[in-house]
Amino acid sequence: MWPFRTSIRFVEMDFRTDVHSHVLPGVDDGFKSIDRSVEAQELLRGLGLEHQFLTPHIYPDLYPGNSPESVRAVFSKYRERLGATGVESRVAGEHMVYGDIDREFTEDSISRSLQLNQGYVLVEMSYAYESQNIRDFVFHLCNLGLHPVLAHPERYNYYSTGLVELKSIADIDTVFQLNILSLGGFYGTMAKLKAERILEQGLYSFLGTDLHSVSQIAQLKSMKIRKKHVPAIEKLLENNDLLWSGSFKGGGSDYVNHPLKETAASGSGTDSGLSKPQFRRSEPLFLPVSSVHTPLLSCL
Ligand SMILES: [Fe+2]
Repeated sequence: MWPFRTSIRFVEMDFRTDVHSHVLPGVDDGFKSIDRSVEAQELLRGLGLEHQFLTPHIYPDLYPGNSPESVRAVFSKYRERLGATGVESRVAGEHMVYGDIDREFTEDSISRSLQLNQGYVLVEMSYAYESQNIRDFVFHLCNLGLHPVLAHPERYNYYSTGLVELKSIADIDTVFQLNILSLGGFYGTMAKLKAERILEQGLYSFLGTDLHSVSQIAQLKSMKIRKKHVPAIEKLLENNDLLWSGSFKGGGSDYVNHPLKETAASGSGTDSGLSKPQFRRSEPLFLPVSSVHTPLLSCL
């Protein structure tokens, strides 16, 4: 296939499911009107998109009006117009990790929290400084039977290109979501470099647009994927589809021994269909691929 090309356009790939977007209008720094949201989804439908998680920022300091109930109410208001675009939408959230965030996720609140699917919860941090409680918080989510998804790790300026700090978060059963535009350099050279490294080390599980405006769709259309990255991106696209359908078994593009595969397959337990985990330190794993990252703590 395309033997003489060194890259392919991202929109030539099977991009059917977007796990991260700010298309729900009027709730954060993303889309401001339902007309623009509809325009965006119609354009994305033309590129092949079928499913989109709407993930408004959930951060009381910046968006005090956003709660699971209020965000769902806005979604209900616009569900019909968005549905008419041909893109099926579901509402979730992108949770900023702030000091007291543990209070948002308790045994009692899990069922109404803004999850993606299968208990996966999208979390983010400031680009300027690390949340001091990030490791405690993802640990907390895991202990509730949930699965943290760290949004766009390549964009956090304080993490080294050696990925040491990011791997320490992945070690707590946290999977990563790539902003696809990072690979195109739209967030700067460092974000692009880190995205390539994280991708090449098999640490991503999903990809998203993080779409905030219609103009970013032009960027998406101009995106090219280097030939050597195509298999990894194809795997992330497949993972996106599996997450939407509820059959994601865990793990990143090369994450062959990720223990979530067993957890997800076991079926029973919480409302998310995943078994209730207990933390333990994993047995050492001897992996055939040197680049595969091995979690130290796992939800089993
Ligand atoms: Fe976002």
